[in-house]
Amino acid sequence: MSQTAPLIDPFARAITYLRVSVTDRCDFRCVYCMAENMTFLPKKELLTLEELDRMCSTFIRLGVRKLRITGGEPLVRKGIMTFFNGMKRHLDSGDLDELTLTTNGSQLARFADDLVAAGVRRVNVSLDTLDEQKFADITRWGRLKQVLAGIDAAREAGLRIKINAVALKGFNEDELFTLQEWCAARDMDLTFIEVMPMGDLGNEDRLDQYWDLKDLRARLGERFTLTDLAESSGGPARYVRLEETGQKIGFITPLTHNFCESCNRVRLTCTGELYMCLGQEDMADLRAPLRASAKDDLLEDAIRKAISLKPKGHDFDYSRQAVDGQMSRHMSHTGG
Ligand code: GTP
Ligand code: 5AD
Ligand code: SF4
Repeated sequence: MSQTAPLIDPFARAITYLRVSVTDRCDFRCVYCMAENMTFLPKKELLTLEELDRMCSTFIRLGVRKLRITGGEPLVRKGIMTFFNGMKRHLDSGDLDELTLTTNGSQLARFADDLVAAGVRRVNVSLDTLDEQKFADITRWGRLKQVLAGIDAAREAGLRIKINAVALKGFNEDELFTLQEWCAARDMDLTFIEVMPMGDLGNEDRLDQYWDLKDLRARLGERFTLTDLAESSGGPARYVRLEETGQKIGFITPLTHNFCESCNRVRLTCTGELYMCLGQEDMADLRAPLRASAKDDLLEDAIRKAISLKPKGHDFDYSRQAVDGQMSRHMSHTGG
């Protein structure tokens, strides 16, 4: 009986992409992600770095080929480079195709070289605006200069960068072309994300700020020739090429185009809960089976059982001017 049979969910989707939140903490307080006064988890609730390694290594043994480290802000977790350095062995052995992270960029100047040494080739940096005041407003605690310095350091270290911008009506609508040109000049990809109803941060705001990416795409189309690309980076983004600049622009559209049918990922929180879908409450505790035995059998069984319960998709919906499918947990809990 093969314990290494790949992870296949009830809808015949192979689970090859694990997103791991290594901390719920963050040095920013983005308005669509966190409340200003967040209560964070006590340290003893967190998986240790060794436990994170064991978890990820088990998933890799079960067929995961892409690992994305998230948070909170992953680079504020103490000792996180030890974890990255440990994961490098799976890249070296060929069991893992990609080790990467999603970051707010604030610590990149410190860590860019170390990340490259650990085998990271690509990072996704969240950046919604290039205006200092607007940046301070949306992140509450963030400073644009620090993030731009982080991005520069990452580029100098040789990392490929994708910018993630949450599309927000009345906020960065007027920066569509500024962001596009800024990324083109630096040979960085750019992906826009529709804002999702996460956390009890005031639904009204989310609905007012919701900017349909069909509209954003149409505006891009007024200035550029857009060619749909078949390629995928293994995530939910659909890409177009702007023929005039050659750059790639991605769209992550949980609201207007539900991409759940091709979902290949699950999410592990920093406490060892496995969420089968970003937009559903279903989760399985993997920390207990991990801690119950020094061998990985219990953990493997728990993972297989969890995957067999993966739901078909999320229920996010803003139609009829109401928010449906709202999630009670904050984005920082599952790492986006
Ligand atoms: P690459 O394709 O490797 O660049 O990664 P990605 O787009 O999967 O990762 P990234 O962290 O950049 O994802 C950007 C955002 O897309 C996430 O933070 C989420 O907001 C959203 N997203 C990613 N996966 C899902 C998903 O399964 N469901 C939903 N609803 N949103 C997702
Ligand atoms: N809707 C859409 N994207 C979000 N992010 C955080 N909260 C939300 C939300 N409510 C994004 C961040 C970052 C990624 C981790 O998730 O901007 O790019
Ligand atoms: Fe921090 Fe990212 Fe959430 Fe902003 S979106 S508060 S940077 S975890």
